[in-house]
Amino acid sequence: MTAPAPGGPRAAEQAWRRLRPQLAEEAVAALGPAEADAFLTRVEVALVDVHAPLVALYGQRADPEELLARGLRLVLAAAAERPAELRVLDRRREIDPHWFQRERMQGYVCYVDRFCGTLGQLPARLDHLAELGTTYLHLMPLLRPREGENDGGYAVADYREVDPRLGTMAELEAVAAALRRHDMSLCIDLVLNHTAAEHPWARAWLAGDPAYADFYTAFPDRRLPDAYEATIPEVFPDRAPGSFSWVPEACGGAGGWVWTTFWSYQWDLDYANPEVTLAMLGEITWLANRGVEVFRMDAIPFMWKRLGTNCQNQPEVHDLVQLLHALARIAAPAVVFKAEAIVAPEDLVPYLGAHARERPECELAYHNQLMVLLWSSVAAQDARLAIAALRRMRPIPTGATWVTYVRGHDDIGWAVSDTDAAAVGADGDAHRRFLNDFFSGRFPHSPARGALFQENPLTGDARISGTAASLCGIESALEKEDGAALHRGIRRLLLMYSVVFSFGGIPLLYMGDEIGMRNDAGYLTDPERAPDNRWMHRPPMDWTAVGRRHDPATLEGRVFTGLREMGEVRRSLPALRGGAEPTVLTAGSDRVLVWRRRHPRSGSFVGVANFSSMPAVVDADTVTGFGTYEPALSSDGPLEVQGRGLVVPGLGFAWYAEP
Ligand code: GLC
Repeated sequence: MTAPAPGGPRAAEQAWRRLRPQLAEEAVAALGPAEADAFLTRVEVALVDVHAPLVALYGQRADPEELLARGLRLVLAAAAERPAELRVLDRRREIDPHWFQRERMQGYVCYVDRFCGTLGQLPARLDHLAELGTTYLHLMPLLRPREGENDGGYAVADYREVDPRLGTMAELEAVAAALRRHDMSLCIDLVLNHTAAEHPWARAWLAGDPAYADFYTAFPDRRLPDAYEATIPEVFPDRAPGSFSWVPEACGGAGGWVWTTFWSYQWDLDYANPEVTLAMLGEITWLANRGVEVFRMDAIPFMWKRLGTNCQNQPEVHDLVQLLHALARIAAPAVVFKAEAIVAPEDLVPYLGAHARERPECELAYHNQLMVLLWSSVAAQDARLAIAALRRMRPIPTGATWVTYVRGHDDIGWAVSDTDAAAVGADGDAHRRFLNDFFSGRFPHSPARGALFQENPLTGDARISGTAASLCGIESALEKEDGAALHRGIRRLLLMYSVVFSFGGIPLLYMGDEIGMRNDAGYLTDPERAPDNRWMHRPPMDWTAVGRRHDPATLEGRVFTGLREMGEVRRSLPALRGGAEPTVLTAGSDRVLVWRRRHPRSGSFVGVANFSSMPAVVDADTVTGFGTYEPALSSDGPLEVQGRGLVVPGLGFAWYAEP
């Protein structure tokens, strides 16, 4: 008999056989017999997903079986502390494991202070979210950040405390409970690639506390940092060049270059150390027990470093995510992970578990490709690139789904691949430059009012800031008091959202988009924010403008009514459930994106979006399934028939569905 492969299922079984008797006893003592049985069953189901990554990541430097035992004890303790109400939720999610794929799912993302002031005031605003049809609320970073600059809260000084300006942990728990009563799930950011330099782990590491040895990485001289930087692209080239920061107290006081992928005060954790992974697991399960259901896994591509690479999307990152995911869900099965991986499409789908052999990783991921392609299509008034790129994307596992969106709190990076650009006869570089010119308003006649973010004069790279409405031309139209331009701007915004609501996945509304909020220059007066123009698209919610949302004569009324209607119709269309892939169709026009969806339990759905401002004709049989699908929603009423074609108005959209 040969020995079992170290990371294989047999090795996992053997380790579990040795650990089980003792752990089963502890589980019964901690949870009682019925819950212990459920717990142990979850361990058995997830066993390989925990054991294989432990061997792959740490087999060289530690005993995987010992780590397995520690990981399981940690999640057992978390399961024992889990509040009764959340155990009920766990049970519901285990009965309905595809809850996040339902057509009823609709997201909203906001900053607590900018939306309503404090956590205590949030429950009073839930009516607004309910009116939109929200079932999932992402609250932007709210854990206690460092003092001073904090990258919009992405420099966390304490995972177990809420930013005192926003409220307390007890209030966050109360918000989570209020959301559950409204059938909404709470999502928060888990900033796990780095902590603030002020986090107690970082302080203890710096002080040489052996319990925190190797929590972060520091180099005494430039030799290795230079070698790494030769292949690492910069995230913030203008104010935080490079990926290392000099810290005089590091390396036992001799000074050292600390790994800081983002700002100098955000120190990258070293996940090559299993203690870091277990410590982060402790924070995840603790937050899950406060009522967090969805963790937005911030900047996960960066979690593992390898010399000679761009230090993103390394295979070990997937092992790590798989490990944390499997363990967290043993303690809290209601929890799902959402990947924030703003990377090329071929690197993106593995975060949803799409590998040569599928693996459970994140249930959700931002559909960054779709977002970028929507903006690209709007600028070019042409859908060819979107058609080519979306067709080339690999399918995702049926147990996962996308989060689709038009705009978020970050800049837009033009993740248009050169291969896709070449496929439609374009040059990737030239197209990215065009997009920057167009959305920064430099391109002749562009109605967009964005701004370049992190322009890199050396490479010519840049990204774009600006709210969706301003990028769509709404701001410039209002300024010029040009009614026709305003009409086009609103149509662009609704056109993009029509795809986001129906392409497949959870549509995510970015705070303020529902009333077409424009760029806000207020950040320029705040010295901590002024250097980061991403704040221009993070305006405080204008509740006076929200008051106009039912008035069809106003901008707010037109946008809000359009979006609310999309949500309503979406909820009636089972074809829009996750778990099935859309197919991009050829329907006779380069300017129109046409896609079909079909869930195994539903009839077909076809969506049509014309990115040109001129009417376009599409093949009627393709769109209507030879006359068998019925109109479900459209921007301009029934499409006009022209011979065997249907006329899609300029910047118009239509949804058809099999009854
Ligand atoms: C993510 C966030 C971004 C932040 C970065 C570092 O990309 O979306 O806002 O700057 O992570 O945490």
